[in-house]
Amino acid sequence: MSLHQAVYLDYAAATPVDPRVIDAMVSCLKLNGTFANPSSKDHAYGWQAAEAVENARGQIADLIGCSPLEIIFTSGATESNNLAIFGLSKALRQQGDPRRSIVTSKIEHKAVLEACAMLEEQGYQVTYLDPRPDGTLDCELLAPHLTADVFLVSISQANSVTGAVSDMHALATLCRSRGIYYHSDCAQSIGYEKFDLDKSDISLVSLTPEKICGPKGAGALFINRSQQVPLAPMIVGGGQEKGLRGGTVASHQVVGMGKAFELMAQEGKQDKERLNGLRSYLIELLQQGTDCRINGSATHHLPHILSVTFPGIDGRLLLPSLRNTACSSGSACSSADLKPSYVLTAMGLSDEDARASLRLSVGRFTSREDIECAARDIVAVVNKLRHSAKPAGL
Ligand SMILES: Cc1ncc(COP(=O)(O)O)c(C=O)c1O
Repeated sequence: MSLHQAVYLDYAAATPVDPRVIDAMVSCLKLNGTFANPSSKDHAYGWQAAEAVENARGQIADLIGCSPLEIIFTSGATESNNLAIFGLSKALRQQGDPRRSIVTSKIEHKAVLEACAMLEEQGYQVTYLDPRPDGTLDCELLAPHLTADVFLVSISQANSVTGAVSDMHALATLCRSRGIYYHSDCAQSIGYEKFDLDKSDISLVSLTPEKICGPKGAGALFINRSQQVPLAPMIVGGGQEKGLRGGTVASHQVVGMGKAFELMAQEGKQDKERLNGLRSYLIELLQQGTDCRINGSATHHLPHILSVTFPGIDGRLLLPSLRNTACSSGSACSSADLKPSYVLTAMGLSDEDARASLRLSVGRFTSREDIECAARDIVAVVNKLRHSAKPAGL
């Protein structure tokens, strides 16, 4: 596949950075910009850098409806998930809290699942919920598992493979009524779904700008002040970020994140409409051209992610045969190992169907022509594979 000819439909893995975000980031790198260490209190360079970082914290808080005081910068959603899960477990242990159980779902990102698995090795109990067949989770599924030993529920707002959206606010309210902390990995849903965290019972939210045309290597954790969520740091050092995350704050990353969030606050609504239109157009073209099934909720989904199964083909040949489309079989982390997506199999798909599936994700720079070109490519490849799968003589 030639890199520059292929249509990029993998925005759920990474996005090109918006030029307006690049400009904001570059301004933090130059001598005549805010390059200084934001913790340097002894000169104006440091004060200006600190101001830029605090401005970004405000832009992030504005988009998700919380106080800037509730935002801690990290290096990405993975670190935020680790800080939320390990940090809360450790702090509660230190406080003498006897609870040792967590509830999560089988379709969470590996950054949540692996953190939970590590806690299991330390003697914690983890319950992994099955989603509904449409990839959502709800209070009815969760409630029976909220035993007295549970201190944390971690369920994302939107799934990174199917885009299916669960009502995290309702789930969090249920948890709060039982004195359980609620964490949500919102790496994919940021800017597209309702947050209003100041009116919500959510305790912890992991954020990153990398799916909304911001930089990779930047992230944040929302920590609900009104719940006084106890957290122990996972990275210690110079006491930055209220002692919760040591290390010089990477001001260019943070400023880029702030700008990306600001753009979503200004343009997210229009982006959502446009992307939903592209997603529907893609579905229409695929369904016109070949037999396929859409995975995930038909009503509660992100505007930019589409998971689609092409029954009856050898899925292992699908991605390598695409010449003009850059997309993935599932999440980027599981793409390389040719295993079927664990998210799709947890939703009830057979290994064979899960392998014969693609995740197609669109974004700010995707055009209708891109959709047409990718759909042509996919339909041609699928029909060819299906034809060659038929026994001779049929
Ligand atoms: C839902 C979800 N959580 C976490 C991550 C990891 O984010 P990061 O690369 O910022 O660590 C991703 C990235 O694809 C994701 O989709």
